[in-house]
Amino acid sequence: MRTVNIGIIGLGTVGGGVARLVLSHHDDYVASYGIDLNVKRGCALDTAAGEACGITGDAFTTDWRDIVNDPDIDIVVELIGGEHPATEIYEAAFANGKHVVTANKALLGRHVERLAGLAREAGVQLRCEAAAAGGIPVVEALEHSFMGNRILTIAGIMNGTTNYILSRMTAEGSNFADVLADAQRLGYAEADPTADVDGFDAASKTAILASISFHTRVTTDDVYQQGIRKISAEDIAVARELGYTIKLLGIARNTPEGVEARVHPTMIPSTHQLAAVSGAMNAVYVVGDAVGETMFYGAGAGSFPTASAVVGDIFALAEPLSRGEKPLAEAKPYDHVLPVLPIEKLSNSFYVRLRIADEVGALAPVVAAFAEAGISISQINQLETETDGACSVVFITHEASEADMEKAEAALTALPGVREVANVIRIENIARWTEGVFAN
Ligand code: HSE
Repeated sequence: MRTVNIGIIGLGTVGGGVARLVLSHHDDYVASYGIDLNVKRGCALDTAAGEACGITGDAFTTDWRDIVNDPDIDIVVELIGGEHPATEIYEAAFANGKHVVTANKALLGRHVERLAGLAREAGVQLRCEAAAAGGIPVVEALEHSFMGNRILTIAGIMNGTTNYILSRMTAEGSNFADVLADAQRLGYAEADPTADVDGFDAASKTAILASISFHTRVTTDDVYQQGIRKISAEDIAVARELGYTIKLLGIARNTPEGVEARVHPTMIPSTHQLAAVSGAMNAVYVVGDAVGETMFYGAGAGSFPTASAVVGDIFALAEPLSRGEKPLAEAKPYDHVLPVLPIEKLSNSFYVRLRIADEVGALAPVVAAFAEAGISISQINQLETETDGACSVVFITHEASEADMEKAEAALTALPGVREVANVIRIENIARWTEGVFAN
């Protein structure tokens, strides 16, 4: 047995949690697995972060180079996020023969192909369990446990902040702005909530999970992205009456035509397991052709849940290292093998809420606009609330193409009787999620 040394760059919420978990499990790792795992050094901008997790004296540094250049360190744990200097940290760590463990979804969502390629060339690994759905061990499951499957669908609540906001809006009938402000006050949402509420964070995670699931490259920029700012209490109430719950889902499907990769508010049947996932919790629903439907539930953020995933990656490397063996080099990065379908190529039913002048004849041109776009309507509901002489009317369409819906939206916006296209929300056809599962 030899000691396996790690260096943690970033000792904030997650990095501090990793240091504490490794320390508190140290004796058990030795006793149960014969693995002596040691946090050799930690790096942060100020000493207080190190002191908070027991990294002091020579073990503490403010310069990440001290960690990537330390010949005793086997594994570099990067938990500072962002593109720079994270990229430089990986490059230097790989060049020095060190493995990297990270939770950096933004960086990997865009550049994993290049970075994993560098790791492979250097004969080391780049591991990222914590980068998708935090504490949920779904990357490990997709990379190993599901190998008997062709993965057909990933559909996940991959962002806790937006799930917290939507859950509270649903429970309380409150509006987005009020709940967001309260979530910021309580620390559930960042002061700048853009990455979460506009879907950037979920898009990175969808890209990472789609790439791993379908063995092709899907980058964050390939993922269609729409956030939750436009969702109102009214939308949620109408959806509920129709038997749907609105969730911000990351959806990736491996279809015969290509890969679907999208993040948007989605109406799913309230009876679906994902609809029951509330508060800041995450869930990833995975369909494989052999296994059928599975679902992974857990905390997608927070110090110890995220640190739990990071430590799992560290441990996977420490097992061979402690025996004096070299972990396998990074697998060959996936190429862009499958086309990613542009959103215009997809189709589904839509919920369309319009603010319409409450006047004789206002509805006729609206119905005509749908017809001219080739969209068939399955339901119309006029809501009772009326302000400024306008009322909300909700249309549910039959399945229509995204391209036709875009045309209809433009035509509706231009109608004089339409005050506003208040919202267009996709109604997911969940029967498609299990298309291709083997019959038993
Ligand atoms: N901000 C993310 C969330 C957690 O709200 O789920 C980190 O990805």
